Amino acid sequence: LQGDLLSAIAAAPNLEGLEAARVHALGKQGAVTALLKTLGAMAPEERQAQGPRIQGLREAVTAAIAAKKAEMERAVLDARLASETLDMSLPVAGTAGGSVHPVSQVMDELAEIFADLGFAVATGPEIEDDWHNFTALNIPESHPARAMHDTFYFDKVDGEGRKMLLRTHTSPVQIRTMVTQKPPIRIIAPGRTYRSDSDATHTPMFHQVEGLVIDRGITMGHLKWTLETFVKAFFERDDIVLRLRPSYFPFTEPSMEVDVGYTLVKGKRVIGGAEPDGWMEILGSGMVHPEVIAACGLDPEEWQGFAFGCGIDRLAMLKYGMDDLRAFFDGDLRWLRHYGFAA
Ligand code: PHE
Repeated sequence: LQGDLLSAIAAAPNLEGLEAARVHALGKQGAVTALLKTLGAMAPEERQAQGPRIQGLREAVTAAIAAKKAEMERAVLDARLASETLDMSLPVAGTAGGSVHPVSQVMDELAEIFADLGFAVATGPEIEDDWHNFTALNIPESHPARAMHDTFYFDKVDGEGRKMLLRTHTSPVQIRTMVTQKPPIRIIAPGRTYRSDSDATHTPMFHQVEGLVIDRGITMGHLKWTLETFVKAFFERDDIVLRLRPSYFPFTEPSMEVDVGYTLVKGKRVIGGAEPDGWMEILGSGMVHPEVIAACGLDPEEWQGFAFGCGIDRLAMLKYGMDDLRAFFDGDLRWLRHYGFAA
């Protein structure tokens, strides 16, 4: 019997066949089980003789099944290994990780610096209407400043008959904020702006950050302190001198342009130094014009404020030493790597 059972196990073609052989030998109705059952009816001496033999048979069959099963499983695994080419021991190919663009980097830095001064971040639409972009900012239809902005206009007007355009600066966010929020207001508004212009220092799309403070009793002293604190934090040095030059913007009065002092280090312009070798313009600013405050439905007798607007791309160029603005928007990884912005 043992020989028959073992050869049936050895001949099993697959796991199902092996299971059938196991049931045939060790199952409830199996041959070995039947033999075990006969032990009970035997005389003691006979049982002593037959018991070990039947147990031996059972163990031999059990061991043969286990061995056959292991062999079959190994064969299945070998077949898989032979057919699949995945080699887990090979080193992985390098994966390209993303990185932060210099413009985004500067926007993050600005948000952080101004958050410390109590400014929230505000946003507005890039597709604007001419009331928010011009009229409410004290630039009426006939004003020459409209022509100076090289505006991209859409063919259509909006539901209120206003001309639609790509915003030429972030100043319309001043209007949107004053119209919807009660003073006191302290916001910066970073974002994309558009003008029909292109050379080494101008791209049709560029980035600005607007700043706006509206409260009672705001003076130019607050403006100057805020700009100085911001510029020192941004360029990470304390010995920075600002120069405030009288200027003109329709939406501020008085208006000024702000220059930052640079010193020449081995022929290169480096922002900062107590005794500057020259000046670079970085932003426009001024006290918010009473007409603008009134256009937003606030009483200019009660509320005053200051505003500033600053080119973000220009800030990035000055801080990180880049010289061609157009490269910002080429998506060239070599350029980003060169300035340490991509791995
Ligand atoms: N909007 C102006 C520009 O684009 C900058 C500015 C903003 C000036 C706020 C004064 C106050 O040039």
